[in-house]
Amino acid sequence: MTSVDRIPRPHGGKLVNRFHSAKMNIDGMFSIEVSNDLRNDIENIADGIFSPLEGFVGEDDFQSIVKSGRLNSGSAWTIPIILDVDHETAIKMKDAGEVLLKTGNQHFGTVNVEEIYSYDKGFVAKMVYQTNDPKHPGVDKLIRLQDRLIGGKIKVLIKIPQSPLRRFRVSPLETRSQVQKRGWKTMVGFQTRNVPHVAHETLQKTAMNIYDGLFVNPLIGKKKPGDFKDEVIVRAYETLVENYYPESRTMFGTLHTEMRYAGPKEAIHHAIMRKNFGCSHFIVGRDHAGVRDYYDPFAAHKIFSDYPDLGVEPLFFSAFYYCKKCLSYASEKNCPHGPELREELSGTKMRKMVSSGQMPAMHLMRPEISKLIIAYKEPFVPE
Ligand code: ADX
Repeated sequence: MTSVDRIPRPHGGKLVNRFHSAKMNIDGMFSIEVSNDLRNDIENIADGIFSPLEGFVGEDDFQSIVKSGRLNSGSAWTIPIILDVDHETAIKMKDAGEVLLKTGNQHFGTVNVEEIYSYDKGFVAKMVYQTNDPKHPGVDKLIRLQDRLIGGKIKVLIKIPQSPLRRFRVSPLETRSQVQKRGWKTMVGFQTRNVPHVAHETLQKTAMNIYDGLFVNPLIGKKKPGDFKDEVIVRAYETLVENYYPESRTMFGTLHTEMRYAGPKEAIHHAIMRKNFGCSHFIVGRDHAGVRDYYDPFAAHKIFSDYPDLGVEPLFFSAFYYCKKCLSYASEKNCPHGPELREELSGTKMRKMVSSGQMPAMHLMRPEISKLIIAYKEPFVPE
């Protein structure tokens, strides 16, 4: 029996809800434009995916997250959720108090300006990403942020409109009610930013043998050039789940937020979001949320020992490869054969195969998925 043997309560105790249903008079209010990526995260705060956050973190929480991977309250939290603005806008926002948030012409929410503060980008990069290298996609983004951060609670007045990409988006209220309906006592969460290869499927199905339900939860949102496009990931997983997963044991939904490529720190963040969806367990394999060779392939396992209080149990998997002698997926933990019999499997390898027009073999990728990807003229995020 593991220490988490039932569906956990949301992180911090209760599911946050920052949707505002009452009509609000917005005439004359000061407004700022935010990116679509940030709007996704604002909606993630509003429907509790980021519980216990109720808005953009203030300075004490920010410093505490960066220095110790926890909120000021002591709750685990490793990725600061922030609103950056320039100095002039910050002053105007302070005078306004409550500020409208918009994308395009749509005023969709508000932020209550409680704090304005500065931060040291170099220090944040080192603590969160473990590097100052501007070639790291997370560091690159950090360097480009404005110099002032706004702390304060948000409200969402209008949800992001439906679109083909968002047709599988789920909220924690929906997943938790499904879990209850299905009578699951345990649910395993699976994070991915890739199209599925058979090693991914093997990780998920190994866990499925033991626990009540599986929550397949691809991350849809800004990714680095060369990663698969969101549309391809959504269609590939839709196809995989339809063809190869038992409906009664599987829940499929997308999570709309950015990849941050923060390796171990992001693994904790990923686990917390899945806890809020109702997962009791969370899969962490080789080089989780890693990019190139910035992190040790198992750094994302080690970090969990700093978080015995996380409330969601990590399921660690070593590197899976296809063994030509075992004729199945295996790892060094259960296969005695040498490297000459191993076929390594990674998102990077799949991307290389697909870009050279090569159809991955059936033991590496399901044919329905290979066909779907090869049919795309440009399946990758452009430079
Ligand atoms: S990630 O950035 O979302 O972590 P990816 O979608 O490739 O990237 O991986 C999803 C999950 O599967 C992660 O937990 C990752 O560690 C795991 N994983 C991917 N490939 C393998 C593999 N060959 N062996 C073990 N774990 C793997």
